[in-house]
Amino acid sequence: MNLKAIKSDVTEVETGAVVVNLFEGVTKPSGATGAIDRALGGQLTQMIADGELTGSLGETRVVHTAGRLPARRVAVIGLGKREGLDLEAVRRAVGTATRQLLATGITEWHTVLHGGGSLKKTTPRDLAETIAEATMMGAYRWDRFKTTTGPTGDGRPVPKLEEVTVVEADGRKLPQIRRGLDRGSKIAEAVNYTRDLGNSPPNEMTPAALADHARKLGDQHAMEVEVLTVEDLKQQGMGGILGVGQGSHNLPRLIIVRYDRGRPSAKPTVIVGKAVTFDAGGISIKPSRHLEEMKFDKMGGCAVLGILKAAALLGLKQSLIGVIPAVENLPSAAAYRPGDILESYSGKTIEVINTDAEGRLILADGLAWASEQNPREIIDIATLTGACMVALGETAAGVFGDERAVSKFVEAGARTGDRAWALPLYDEFSENMRSEVADIKNAGGHWGGASNAAAFLKFFVDDAVQWTHIDIAGNAYVTKPRHYEPLGATGAGVRLVIEYLTSR
Ligand code: BES
Ligand code: MN
Ligand code: ZN
Repeated sequence: MNLKAIKSDVTEVETGAVVVNLFEGVTKPSGATGAIDRALGGQLTQMIADGELTGSLGETRVVHTAGRLPARRVAVIGLGKREGLDLEAVRRAVGTATRQLLATGITEWHTVLHGGGSLKKTTPRDLAETIAEATMMGAYRWDRFKTTTGPTGDGRPVPKLEEVTVVEADGRKLPQIRRGLDRGSKIAEAVNYTRDLGNSPPNEMTPAALADHARKLGDQHAMEVEVLTVEDLKQQGMGGILGVGQGSHNLPRLIIVRYDRGRPSAKPTVIVGKAVTFDAGGISIKPSRHLEEMKFDKMGGCAVLGILKAAALLGLKQSLIGVIPAVENLPSAAAYRPGDILESYSGKTIEVINTDAEGRLILADGLAWASEQNPREIIDIATLTGACMVALGETAAGVFGDERAVSKFVEAGARTGDRAWALPLYDEFSENMRSEVADIKNAGGHWGGASNAAAFLKFFVDDAVQWTHIDIAGNAYVTKPRHYEPLGATGAGVRLVIEYLTSR
């Protein structure tokens, strides 16, 4: 897929579709849309008058030009109310339009920089970045396993997006626009890489397979990759990872990826990601409804690889260490049980109350290891609790921990649309996790489950180190496509953490 920018006019480009926009409530389009309307003899004005074109956010109307313009078609995308316009509205409108144009079989189009006239404080560079990001994220489709032999014939390969060209009349803006397109497409590439890893089925994407992907990533971007196997984990005393992984034929791994482009003296930021390649709950087995979705329980770890890929593509001058405990959580004769007591890497003991609270057990080892790396700060990212999803729905991650970092994450979430929302970590939540027989237990009471889990993690982080926990259980995947998020893994956390790292 190719993204470029040219100096031209929308009425002059020869293309599959020229994409312009409309605000809600406008009865007579102006600007680029107005020029197109005039060339079409007022057809768009007519459609608005007849209620067939409203400009509501996400609306996409495609009309054929029948030779009245060099473009074969005109696509009008709705941007919603002018007062409500922000970069996320542009991102969503462009994402929705991209999915719709592709579904119609259109694989090449020209577009204006939507919203440029109204978003006065936004640079053409930022707009171009947003449009590149939304186009590539919206065009994503996970169809690696689709063949032509499906029972309904729907295995036909859906056309892939070929080329999108930004049309700008003011040639002085082109260098800026090109820089924005470049940055946006690099970020989207990392997000789509994360989605590819995440969508891969659990029979293929085992802990060992994820480690192979990390090695490949390391080869591509000159990052050092270290993979601990069961033998190493035993030697290190990583009792959390070993406990969760012991019931599964696919053995656990601890994946460590070093991205080292900071100043020689720079302390590393350690990013820990939960990668449960399939979470059946173990002996505390989950109900079978929606169980197939638990292949997405590896999204925290996949996001860590995506963050490192984005850092490399963007050339971030920082020192980062990705740490990914990777396990499968299955019930079996060899599985760990409720009542078991595990000795974590920190030396602290954990009473297992529920084998389905496995993510925190593997993160306990990862966080204690991270604390030893003389870190600048620690960030962890995990599909950790259903409770976080109950609290925030499918539209935001929950963030916990260092208050200043948390508010920076909330701001980074608002800027990127990869949202984050602060949840509390009061002492009461730590009290909920107190065990009568070990140092801590892995499941507290029913209420405040997302905060209880965060309080458990906090117990394994060095108090002197700044730490933020990001729970992406709600937004790591979608079961219905929306705006720039096609079905499946969303890549949540990649844009959020990259924005945080570049703006802190
Ligand atoms: N992986 C799940 C959390 C989850 C739920 C992620 C839904 C994505 C969507 C996690 O391992 C889990 O099972 N958590 C339990 C914890 C409980 C047993 C204390 C939960 O949230 O119910
Ligand atoms: Mn679980
Ligand atoms: Zn889990």
